[in-house]
Amino acid sequence: MKVATIGTGYVGLVTGACLADMGNEVICVDIVDHKVEMINQGRSPIYEEGMQEILKRNAQKNLKATTDLEMAIENSDISFICVGTPSDRDGGIDLRYIKSAARSIGKALASVDNHTVVVKSTVVPGTTENIIIPILEKNSGKHVGEFGVCMNPEFLKEGVAVDDFMNPDRIIIGQYDENSGNKLAELYKGFYCPILRTDLKTAEMIKYASNSFLATKVSFINEIGNICKRLGIDAYTVAEGMSLDYRISPNFLKAGLGWGGSCFPKDIKGLISYAKGIGYNPELLQTVLKVNRKQPEILLDIARKKLGSFDGKRVAVLGLAFKADTDDTRESQSFHVIRQLLNEKAEVVAYDPKAEENTKIEFPEIQYASTAEDALKEADIALILTEWEEFQNLNYEGMKNRIVIDGRDIVKNREGIEYEGLCW
Ligand code: UGA
Repeated sequence: MKVATIGTGYVGLVTGACLADMGNEVICVDIVDHKVEMINQGRSPIYEEGMQEILKRNAQKNLKATTDLEMAIENSDISFICVGTPSDRDGGIDLRYIKSAARSIGKALASVDNHTVVVKSTVVPGTTENIIIPILEKNSGKHVGEFGVCMNPEFLKEGVAVDDFMNPDRIIIGQYDENSGNKLAELYKGFYCPILRTDLKTAEMIKYASNSFLATKVSFINEIGNICKRLGIDAYTVAEGMSLDYRISPNFLKAGLGWGGSCFPKDIKGLISYAKGIGYNPELLQTVLKVNRKQPEILLDIARKKLGSFDGKRVAVLGLAFKADTDDTRESQSFHVIRQLLNEKAEVVAYDPKAEENTKIEFPEIQYASTAEDALKEADIALILTEWEEFQNLNYEGMKNRIVIDGRDIVKNREGIEYEGLCW
């Protein structure tokens, strides 16, 4: 099939590249010239396992990138809107990029027949029907039905997004009508997973409900972990015991510093704001957010008690990415920790195998080490904030005081150090 993806962030690039690798003819559209150039040269603008190889295999063959959206729509049967929906000031979602993409697609649709527009960006229930379709209709001069519309939420995890795309647990096809859904189902016909067809707003809600549930699970185990810590109980053994019940499942039960990234914080806040806007106060979700905000503070309390105060102390911060295997630092819990350390006049020396460059944008003033051991040299304390595998067995010999606070239960080699876990 001929496919266009609008936006080459994580979602658009992974969707476009994987569909090209499966034999479709894909055109990726972005407004940023250098991203388009990189994709056309077979170079990935993001760090994502497997992406580089896929781009190399498909660039200039099945996969082309352009800034010309109209050309992409004219040369495709189906297009995916994959632009960002960042949080606005009140926690709601900012639809600026979606609206602009819909306007441009609408204009192109005026001269194109049999095209289906698929919304992949995360949008609150009702957005496709009440905002995107009217913009498409207005700008194309056509009625929906003359072109198809679907809402197809994405469930990719950064770091394993390619594998998630190729081996999904499920595909949700929110459809305006049967024809629209059939077209998208045809594109996904090579996938062997359950495919659920719903209306547009149900598909939108499935995405929010899924992310909210996962974030709730993590905040739940963190709360249990905070209680366990006071009782001298290992939260990880508790989680293991819980997950032997098939209804619970062991995933997303790792207690620690909490969740970050470009999705959970934005989506939980987005759903809270949306629910309030329609007259419902979502108390559980607000508490999920509160528990998550507390975890960095609890870690800092533990460290502060060990040192007396952070003033003038050299603190090694190991781990800057919001989770391992990515260079993404958006809403990273590490940033809350660093900000507070700086407020309390600590000397921060940071290390991350992938996320140094992204961190420098936010914190140009702190020191960066090129290895974990370098960061630990002469440090008064080490805070381990991301679950990178290389933090399992570190050499702490160079530290001034070998105090290690583990925010992710990643440290295996605990010999010769004063070790303390965040909630275990
Ligand atoms: C998340 C969802 O898992 C994807 O299904 C979804 O498609 C994506 O958001 C999105 O909306 O685009 P992602 O943000 O890549 O994916 O990250 P996750 O792997 O889900 O981790 C989220 C956060 O939870 C990380 O900070 C991680 O460290 C934390 N976490 C996760 C825990 O603290 N404990 C756990 O047990 C699991």
